[in-house]
Amino acid sequence: MDATEIIRLDRRHIWHPCTQEKDLEALPPIVIERGEGVYLIDTAGKRYIDGVSSWWVNLFGHNHPRLNAALREQTERIAHHIFAGFTHQPAVELAARLCALAPGDELNKVFFVDNGSSAVEAALKMSFQYWQQSGRPKKTRFVSITEAYHGETVGALSVSGCDLYRKVYQPLLMQGYQATGPDCYRCPCGEERDTCTAPCFEHLEQVVVEHHQEICGIIIEPLIQCAAGMRIYPPVYLRKLRALCDRYNVHYIADEIAVGFGRTGTMFANQHAGVAPDLMCLSKGITGGYMPLAAVLATDDIYAAFYDDYATMKAFLHSHSYTGNPLACRLAVEVLNIFAEESILEQIQVTGKLLARQRERFTELEHVGEFRHCGMVAAIEMVREKKGKTPYPWQERRGLEVYKLALERGALLRPLGNVIYFMPPLTIGEDELLELTTIARDAIAAVTAN
Ligand SMILES: Cc1ncc(COP(=O)(O)O)c(C=O)c1O
Repeated sequence: MDATEIIRLDRRHIWHPCTQEKDLEALPPIVIERGEGVYLIDTAGKRYIDGVSSWWVNLFGHNHPRLNAALREQTERIAHHIFAGFTHQPAVELAARLCALAPGDELNKVFFVDNGSSAVEAALKMSFQYWQQSGRPKKTRFVSITEAYHGETVGALSVSGCDLYRKVYQPLLMQGYQATGPDCYRCPCGEERDTCTAPCFEHLEQVVVEHHQEICGIIIEPLIQCAAGMRIYPPVYLRKLRALCDRYNVHYIADEIAVGFGRTGTMFANQHAGVAPDLMCLSKGITGGYMPLAAVLATDDIYAAFYDDYATMKAFLHSHSYTGNPLACRLAVEVLNIFAEESILEQIQVTGKLLARQRERFTELEHVGEFRHCGMVAAIEMVREKKGKTPYPWQERRGLEVYKLALERGALLRPLGNVIYFMPPLTIGEDELLELTTIARDAIAAVTAN
């Protein structure tokens, strides 16, 4: 099939994710033929730096020789088998290594699912059922924070705070509590991100103090609320959260789906705060961006509440057909091998600093309100007026204009409203990173010129 035919069939039959399909009349989808390192390459041979790691999943570049080989090797053994009553080496090796890497020493049990939203669903159900089976049946609600994003299945949406994704489904969603979360760029307490002691935590604290008898857990994206526009907040917030959860007997559920696997500069974001959650959701980078896989890590204590004679009906009766898929688990083991053998965490200390040094090139622009940075993530917030931090009206779709210009110039950026961000593969080279940021800077300058 040539590109024209692919687009014709695409327009006839495909319904794309998170897309107003009508937009594709003016801007048809780009047909990708192959990948090479940080580049996506279309059917005409045009190369695009993947500045967003293809929705935050790709860690070491596309078409990676070690991941390709791991996949090939596993394919020749077995692609998939039932995971109830059966097991396999890649799954147990992966589980053991994830537990060893996880913060603290109590996250020792791994439940596999196959995408981030499903991991959140499983974690919520585990927490709920734990309290049902631990003599606290009144604990039935979850707390989340404003602008949170935990996926788009109905349970995950219930604990999300982005109206854009959730509003229309409101009547379907389960009831919970939403506390005002941190907003460091427009901090209502007048604090600075780097020196702050998180006084804004009091909103969350108040909800828990008042309602802890009915609260199962608090779910949060540690350090960066990604979908909300890469809203970065300081680790002190997580330390307060851990202490609050301990004080009021509430689970801390960490959604490390986007920030795990090195994105913030450490393997997991909670390590910045030196705290460990009770349940930790992982996905996205877990297979280096090759295959869908997700995991919920649970403490020994949570696991123990489900472990009993069958007749007590305490088991976690939750399953997905592709749970523990051997191909995905083998890839994830190889991802951990690459982290260990290629000093990835050391490498990103250097690349992360280079990313941080781009700050001034952006903040000197008249309509850049903030350049925020954490590890291998950086975000630029475009504003109509800098001093008052006045946003551009969303209807102007400035981010979309930046996206279009960047594509023309050879970079894939996928803005979140007025926020342009970088979350490239961790292995991006210095020259590639400079090229990516230059394309973004020029596109932002052009789009904000009037
Ligand atoms: C923090 C967070 N949680 C959950 C999800 C949902 O993951 P998935 O898209 O694999 O369902 C995402 C996806 O972007 C995410 O960023």
